Amino acid sequence: MPRLAVLGHPVAHSRSPAMHTAALTALGLGGEWTYEAIDVAPEDFEARVRAMAAEGFAGANVTVPHKQEALACADVATEMAREIGAANTLVFVDGQIQAHNTDAGGLIAALPGLPRGARALVLGAGGAARAAVWALRTEGAVVDIWNRTSARAQQVDIELPGVRIQVKGGGAVTQFDQDDYQLIVNTTAVGLHGEDPFDELPLRRGAFGERVVVADMVYGAGPSTLLQAAAATGAKVVDGIEILVQQGALSLQIWTGREPPLDVMRAAAYSLDGR
Ligand code: ATR
Repeated sequence: MPRLAVLGHPVAHSRSPAMHTAALTALGLGGEWTYEAIDVAPEDFEARVRAMAAEGFAGANVTVPHKQEALACADVATEMAREIGAANTLVFVDGQIQAHNTDAGGLIAALPGLPRGARALVLGAGGAARAAVWALRTEGAVVDIWNRTSARAQQVDIELPGVRIQVKGGGAVTQFDQDDYQLIVNTTAVGLHGEDPFDELPLRRGAFGERVVVADMVYGAGPSTLLQAAAATGAKVVDGIEILVQQGALSLQIWTGREPPLDVMRAAAYSLDGR
């Protein structure tokens, strides 16, 4: 009975167990494979991961705050995971821990079109932002990032050179204007706890428009304030749950080798907030 899990801290809010359990059932693997949520504190992460193969786990998803540690404790990693500097998918095989990153591919799959040649603004500088920057650059977009504080932005600057950096309240490497971007990707948690994204982020509420795509990699209950405002101006919006579904589908394919049932996964992920 191969087991799968998502490792996070906290993890109770995760929609991955419902989404993957529905997918495994649809694939006829429900009697064999299981998928559970495991809350693991950062100090216990490596020991937990090292114990999993012996407990019957075939793989795991990894979410906040463990994605960098997941890469660090793996025995082998894909080039993509190494370049991003984070892993969200682990495979336990032949006594080895393999690290993959499906966040990047999940974002690209969720976008309405390929961003080749587009100018893109990524908000945030954590693990999700790094996956977004890597994915968009690989697809041929020109990427700038903005972050609230400079320390993490500078880290991105060192490891993903060529990205233009802007930091809240000054210290800008370069000035930018929202109107310059055809694609805006939010990776910050702003808005999840009732904050107004237009107070916290360098965006103007009405300044999106039909030619702009706005993606929010963070999901809560219902569409985010940012996406609602963008949609009201005619912008195309990409919900964090769709990105979750696409990264989950890529992970499921890695573990099982089967074609993921996207519609089943999407229905299960959205059903949790009645959408
Ligand atoms: P993840 O790995 O999912 O990207 P993370 O590493 O915790 O998560 O990164 C969270 C991002 O959200 C960071 O860029 C963080 O900004 P700081 O580097 O300044 O901490 C950003 N963030 C969180 N709350 C924010 C807020 N209220 N305003 C602006 N940015 C915020």
